[in-house]
Amino acid sequence: MPTGYTRIQIALHWLVFILVVLQFVLHDSIADAWERIEDGLEVGFDPLVAQHVFTGLLILLLVMIRMAIKAKRGAPALPENEPAILKLAAHGTHLALYALLILMPVSGAVAWFGGVEKAADGHEAMKVLVLVLVAVHVAGALFQHFVLKSNVLTRMRKPL
Ligand code: HEM
Ligand code: HEM
Repeated sequence: MPTGYTRIQIALHWLVFILVVLQFVLHDSIADAWERIEDGLEVGFDPLVAQHVFTGLLILLLVMIRMAIKAKRGAPALPENEPAILKLAAHGTHLALYALLILMPVSGAVAWFGGVEKAADGHEAMKVLVLVLVAVHVAGALFQHFVLKSNVLTRMRKPL
């Protein structure tokens, strides 16, 4: 089992983080465009709509690369002295985040390219889950760093 993350794994983690923040900050145009489509109105070209679609698909690609690297190389173990319940919470959160980073772009694409309303509803509902899980994830990272004083946050900043 590796003792840390590689430069690529770290770069991908923070790049995906920035891109996900962008998706949330710049979601107004695609939400408006989708409403117009639902009302049967015309939708012209809007660079911010294209940004949402392309950034979302890029996230999907980057997350698949991350999962392939993880499957091949593995991930560092959690600190040995960490309580089992926290280890379970950390693994569960990571798994759920990976699942959402795939389901968000897939549901978005099915809604946008397939015109499927249910997929858009799912996309919007999952948005809340992303916010909750990222909040839990960040709280966990800060708890590791400042309370348990482990190297978990440092190893997502500095490669092996
Ligand atoms: C991880 C990637 C993605 C994230 C984090 C994300 C996030 C969001 C957010 C926050 C909204 C606003 C929801 C609201 O109105 O409250 C939204 C709406 C939307 N997104 Fe995405 N998105 C992603 C990928 C995509 C992709 C790849 C597509 C299309 C190919 C897409 C299509 C849409 C559509 C059509 C809407 C408007 C309908 C709705 O509100 O559900 N999204 N997205
Ligand atoms: C959109 C936001 C974020 C997403 C989707 C996300 C997702 C993930 C995922 C899936 C992992 C597991 C990596 C693996 O083992 O393959 C991870 C690890 C990690 N993340 Fe995030 N993350 C986000 C934001 C953040 C932020 C803001 C922080 C810091 C405050 C952070 C700190 C960490 C740390 C320290 C690890 C390593 C955990 C360990 O080594 O066991 N993440 N993240």
